[in-house]
Amino acid sequence: MPNISKILGFFLVLILLNGCQNRRQPVEQKAEMSEKGLKDYYQDYFPVGVAVYPQALDKGPEATLIQKHFVSMTPENVMKMGPIHPQKDSFNWAPADKIVAFAKEHQLKMRGHALCWHNQTPDWLFVDDEGNDVSKEELLDRLKSHITEVASRYKGTLYAWDVVNEAISDQKDEFYRKSKWYQICGEEFIARAFEYARAADPNAELFYNDYEVINPVKRQKIYDLVKGLKENGVPIDGVGIQGHWSIYEPDESTLKETIEQFTSLGLKVQITELDLSVYPKEHSLREKRDADTDEFTLEQKQKQVEQYDMIFRVFREYKDDLNAVTFWNISDKYSWLDHFPVPDRKDYPLLFDEDHEPKEAYYKVINFE
Ligand code: XIL
Repeated sequence: MPNISKILGFFLVLILLNGCQNRRQPVEQKAEMSEKGLKDYYQDYFPVGVAVYPQALDKGPEATLIQKHFVSMTPENVMKMGPIHPQKDSFNWAPADKIVAFAKEHQLKMRGHALCWHNQTPDWLFVDDEGNDVSKEELLDRLKSHITEVASRYKGTLYAWDVVNEAISDQKDEFYRKSKWYQICGEEFIARAFEYARAADPNAELFYNDYEVINPVKRQKIYDLVKGLKENGVPIDGVGIQGHWSIYEPDESTLKETIEQFTSLGLKVQITELDLSVYPKEHSLREKRDADTDEFTLEQKQKQVEQYDMIFRVFREYKDDLNAVTFWNISDKYSWLDHFPVPDRKDYPLLFDEDHEPKEAYYKVINFE
């Protein structure tokens, strides 16, 4: 009889071991799933990036999210003209250098943003010592030395630059934005900016970047601008569609038309600043009203899940045309939309929530065949 009990014991052990293995499998699978980040799900599609500020790189949940989910970073503010070049003869390199160092340490790619824009410019830029507007020649000289200094410093570390940002007007019957750049230089500053950038960093991909590209009227103007630049031999490589959208826009066919219109020019197309506001989209600053509540309603949540689902489905479909997709900010803990277009109105535009946890929209975006 001892033999039979030995045999029975042996089978019992086998059965138990087998049971354990079966139970272990889902746990391992789950662990593996949660180790994977957005970037891994999209590695056969396009690089996924994120806009960051230097403090996010200090040890903590934001730094963890950046490393887990993204392959590229864009400095949200610190490479803009005002922040990086506050006085004519002095630069504030440290915040930008910190992001570049983090990128090197963690093998992330970087996009530069932005060499020439009408916002966040330093006080000295457009005026002489008496406070009068400088001449066109002087302003182009200043633009050249700014771009040369900044783009040369980061040469080889940034794979792309937003060279000119938002030069097209939002007004139906106006082509160029009537910015200080335009008032002093006319349209010429745009082509020159690209030339200065190419000379300073010949290997960086050079982008024209703008918002409201889904609007057919504005899109046509942007199209005409970049087509003209290309035809005139200006060194432009791509168009950045910012992607500050909402749970109500764009619809699928508009999104497809938008991407197609620019790839037809043989230019690279990137989504450079993606976020989906839970409010109807507005592009100008206004005061907060009583009706502006901070609640993230179930209906908004559901709409956001559907909108992210649709947008990423289209992005995947256009993977050969999309050069990169970059989110503007890391999680709903902080978004620039908390302050714009309505000051102190909380928004919830990203894939990670206020506790840095993935939202339902995140799971939609990573779950595809
Ligand atoms: C925004 C930043 O996110 C804010 O922190 C800053 O106060 C204003 O600029 N289009 C752009 C970005 O190209 O540079 C802007 O970033 C958002 C709109």
